[in-house]
Amino acid sequence: MDHTRKLRDLDKKHLWHPFTQMADWCAPDHDPLILVSGKGATLRDSEGKEYLDGNSSIWTNIHGHCHPHIDAAIRTQIESLAHCSALGFSNEPSIRLAEKLTSLFPGDTLTRVFYTDDGSTAIECACKMAIQYRQLSGEPERVRFLSFENAYHGDTAGAASLGGIGSFKGRFDGTGFQVSSIPDFESLSRLDSEEIKKITAICIEPAIQGAAGMRTWPTGMLADLRKWCDHNDVFLILDEVMTGFGRTGKMFACEHEDVIPDFLCLAKGLTGGYLPLAATLTNEKVFSAFLGGYEETFFYGHSYCANPLGCATAIASLEVFENGRVLENLDTSINHLRDELARHFQGEAYVTDIRQIGMIAGIDIGPFDWRELTGAKVCRVAWEFGLLTRPVRDTLVLMPPLCTTTEQLSAMVVALKQACQRVL
Ligand SMILES: Cc1ncc(COP(=O)(O)O)c(C=O)c1O
Repeated sequence: MDHTRKLRDLDKKHLWHPFTQMADWCAPDHDPLILVSGKGATLRDSEGKEYLDGNSSIWTNIHGHCHPHIDAAIRTQIESLAHCSALGFSNEPSIRLAEKLTSLFPGDTLTRVFYTDDGSTAIECACKMAIQYRQLSGEPERVRFLSFENAYHGDTAGAASLGGIGSFKGRFDGTGFQVSSIPDFESLSRLDSEEIKKITAICIEPAIQGAAGMRTWPTGMLADLRKWCDHNDVFLILDEVMTGFGRTGKMFACEHEDVIPDFLCLAKGLTGGYLPLAATLTNEKVFSAFLGGYEETFFYGHSYCANPLGCATAIASLEVFENGRVLENLDTSINHLRDELARHFQGEAYVTDIRQIGMIAGIDIGPFDWRELTGAKVCRVAWEFGLLTRPVRDTLVLMPPLCTTTEQLSAMVVALKQACQRVL
């Protein structure tokens, strides 16, 4: 039996994949790709076939796979220390990364970094900080959160309770935080003052809701939301798990509207898409409320908080941004992607909308019954044209690594178009 076949059989025997109907996965006619290597925006499978990484390996990869500077930083760090506890000790990469992250914001705004493991735990951490802050500040009744319909903030119970997508959270309703879901900014004006006094924070994916199907917010909405939060003494939690690290054309999506949140949640692209590491940033006002005795301590954390290897990787990724002038040069790629999407998809009968912010694009196809999984079928066929991506229902997603060349961007769009033509 060849090596790939053996691995596929073992996978089907022992693994349980995320967000995957395992009956389909384990079906005899499903041959999962086993990815073995990557370089830049390209991935290679165990049978030697190459693919373009059209969704940055689930929205994580920033500078490409096997980037020499990041690889070297990992090698250097692993020779001294892969992991040590952040409970009672510290380590140099986590200190240097915190300095670097906070320096990306105007002085005295986001000054504190709490490390966690992934997007979900970065959100959980912000929510728990917000609740405990209220308790420590004499407002224990402020325990509720506001979040938006169709939002996605992760899958742990707390993070999922802020989500607004029924199929992800419906079965677990009643677990997690106390949350009210609102459709848009305008609906805030319908909340009465007594209700508002029970709210500790509002959580939003700025600029664009990812898992909702790359739905963009109206320009100006985030700045209005910041003003509403200030006026009502409600914390603003920004979930930049997807939008952070250049994805929208700026380092962080909140920069498009000059908004500084009270809590900023970062994950996915923090390590350039290499390792699981997350951070919740906040300000001195929040931090100082926790300074007191044992009772005031923030009793929260994970075994791998501030993991030195992850932090060294994140520093290297930020250095690539600086040394390669990545953001300064990104407009060419963003404009090229826009032109190619318009050239190949605009006017096609099956396309109902195309949205793009920076290097994030969503192409709605239909109208189809989403249960027919048309988007998934298109993306499956795209493998044959050398593209790996994943839809959100019938929204086809392209979110390539920032390093993707213009030729590769064109090839991605053409592959997606060919897949559409084959399936539709
Ligand atoms: C906006 C947003 N928040 C949070 C998460 C959860 O992140 P993780 O999967 O790392 O827990 C995601 C994941 O897709 C996301 O897109």
